[in-house]
Amino acid sequence: MRGNKVKKVCCIGAGYVGGPTMIVFANKCPEVQFKVVDLNLSRIEAWNSEDLTKLPIYEPGLDELLKKCRNKNLFFLTDIKSSISEADMIFISVNTPTKQKGIGAGKASDLKWIEASARQIAEYAKGHTIVVEKSTLPVRTAETIKKILQSSYKDINEENSSKTFSVLSNPEFLSEGNAINDLQNPDRVLIGGENAFAIDSLVNLYSNWISKEKIIKTNLWSSELSKLAANAFLAQRISSINSISAICEETGADINQVSMAIGKDSRIGEKFLTPSPGFGGSCFQKDILNLIYLCEFYKLNEVANYWQSVLDINNWQKLRISKLVVNKLFGNISEKKISILGFAFKANTNDTRNSPCIDICNKLLEEGANLSIFDPKVKNEKIIQDLNFDSKSFDKGSLDFCNSIEESAVDSHAILILTEWDEFKNINWSKLSKIMKNPSWIFDTRFCTESKEALKAGFNYWRLGSQ
Ligand code: NAD
Ligand code: UGA
Repeated sequence: MRGNKVKKVCCIGAGYVGGPTMIVFANKCPEVQFKVVDLNLSRIEAWNSEDLTKLPIYEPGLDELLKKCRNKNLFFLTDIKSSISEADMIFISVNTPTKQKGIGAGKASDLKWIEASARQIAEYAKGHTIVVEKSTLPVRTAETIKKILQSSYKDINEENSSKTFSVLSNPEFLSEGNAINDLQNPDRVLIGGENAFAIDSLVNLYSNWISKEKIIKTNLWSSELSKLAANAFLAQRISSINSISAICEETGADINQVSMAIGKDSRIGEKFLTPSPGFGGSCFQKDILNLIYLCEFYKLNEVANYWQSVLDINNWQKLRISKLVVNKLFGNISEKKISILGFAFKANTNDTRNSPCIDICNKLLEEGANLSIFDPKVKNEKIIQDLNFDSKSFDKGSLDFCNSIEESAVDSHAILILTEWDEFKNINWSKLSKIMKNPSWIFDTRFCTESKEALKAGFNYWRLGSQ
């Protein structure tokens, strides 16, 4: 590192954040070397795959950008030790899921991967290293990271006697399916920290493509909390509009009209007002639970309850849609084939983490339905794993996977659209109605269909948020 010009960067964690983020950094900063490391060998092999359809994540535009910099100034590898040793700056982009057991289970974030990363850095780093929190973390995690890093000073030997660290928080705001655009044109970049030299070094990297006005500098704790708060606010809008979708179905108001009418108020804004079967993804629920845990820790129970209600509405929305499907099909779906269109938590990603489709499909399976699932990007094995499906279980329905919409519709009683993939927006309904059972239903939770066409083709029709 010369002055505050970073030359070598290491990113720990080659997942949905580490991979795309470093690909964009490497394209925008050709003078800098980026090494992305992971414990998971098969993930690294997939990132190095010659066949770009085999990359570990699907994200529009990712393959093209990867081609331009892979093995030039961007490397994916498992050699964590040497990548850390030579780095001037290290991003920690590891997973921080909700804890499954022990103190705080079901709410607190599991920080074992963060701690392991900090320990690896403490052990292998040389000279001065800037450590950047990219993962989403509970407020004051930087303190823990600092303590672990400082513990390495105790083991000072001649070789690394000048080992020093600065810790920054630089949360990521990308959304999956739009990650490349979000990374190339972010609304803002947030950097929390205390050390001016470290902050300037990170600002310099971003300045290769982001104007200085978009770079916000705060203290560490504001930065960590802002990430949790941003996700909580986004999720809260979805629960708000989903709660209104239920009122629309009772009253004859139309949710799209209501959403448009309220979004035109510039104080409210148009984005994130699309109703859905519930928000999914790896972060909204996890980060709100994390916020709730923090509130409870500080005895802010009213605040905790407020954010809990955002999650309650989300779970209720999924349940209410499952029940509605059963009710419309004469209260009985046992051994009835239902075509499920979409399994990813949103379009343009193969990610299914916390997808609303998981809870909805599980409810329908519990009722004995035979589900026939088609998603253009999600692998069948992933769906089986997510649904925890055991084909030998006799008290449940069955699962089948299809390669096209038509195949999944043959002989089915209903089509349930759960992800807004483009291919679900131009379905030839009159063709499908001929191969399905009679009467047959369309349940559209993602606004992919027009009621007129569906009704003309002879379907019974239900769309979220309208009568
Ligand atoms: P991910 O599970 O896809 O990737 C994390 C990777 O880190 C895994 O491949 C894992 O093997 C690796 N890892 C864990 N411990 C390691 C260690 N000690 N050494 C090397 N590798 C290690 O997770 P993700 O979706 O990329 O999310 C990462 C973080 O970013 C989370 O805190 C998440 O909340 C946050 N985030 C995610 C998104 C998103 O869209 N997915 C957006 C913004 C922020
Ligand atoms: C979300 C945030 O948008 C990102 O800013 C953040 O960085 C990221 O979480 C994270 O921390 O992981 P992501 O989960 O990838 O990004 O995708 P979103 O576009 O936010 O969608 C999340 C869920 O909300 C999806 O299930 C989507 O269908 C649903 N959604 C979104 C709605 O139901 N309605 C909307 O209007 C928007």
